[in-house]
Amino acid sequence: MEVSEALLKRRTIRRFTQEKLDEKELEKLLEYARLAAYPSNMQPLKFAIITKPELLEKVFPNTKWAGYLPETGTPKDGERPVAYIAVLGDKSIKQSFEVEAGAAVTSMMLGAFDMGIASCWLGAIDRKKLMQLFNLPEEKFDLLYLLALGYPAQKSDICEAKDNIKYFELPDGQISVPKRSLDEITIKID
Ligand SMILES: Cc1cc2nc3c(=O)[nH]c(=O)nc-3n(C[C@H](O)[C@H](O)[C@H](O)COP(=O)(O)O)c2cc1C
Repeated sequence: MEVSEALLKRRTIRRFTQEKLDEKELEKLLEYARLAAYPSNMQPLKFAIITKPELLEKVFPNTKWAGYLPETGTPKDGERPVAYIAVLGDKSIKQSFEVEAGAAVTSMMLGAFDMGIASCWLGAIDRKKLMQLFNLPEEKFDLLYLLALGYPAQKSDICEAKDNIKYFELPDGQISVPKRSLDEITIKID
């Protein structure tokens, strides 16, 4: 797949088939995150791959999905992610991690898409409960995000944002994500 195709076509997916992901492919995602651009090359992030069914079951109640689609946005039983990658900041290296998390998660989402794997970047998570569940010390790590993963069981495409940026569901279940036009986001400086 061309890089440009991944950049243009990747969309957030919130329903997944229950087919397992290859451990090697998940490791490849960590490799993509490992080699991302980081300020001062500090590389303060750590990553945990979660695939054990018992743990997946316990993670899910600590996640929130599709704020704009309260009725239908949350994956049902049989549609839930089959893997998560937890993205953690190592406080012994640095204290703030937002830029780093952005770089890492973006690389992983695009790399996943290239392998046919769908993803949803999850920020609405119960960090305290998840840290306890993962048995990780809060003095050492900040839990930044989860990346939910699986093969797609949903379609999503863009549409032009007119007066509303809220994504919505079409009658056939496809998600439509309004994006602001190039004109709207371009500022001309002479
Ligand atoms: C930092 C961040 C946090 C997000 N958190 C959530 C979340 O908790 N739950 C969710 O369903 N989607 C979440 N998303 C996905 C966004 O809703 C999605 O990226 C946005 O609607 C644009 O859709 P697209 O990724 O298909 O372009 C998050 C995205 C980002 C960048």
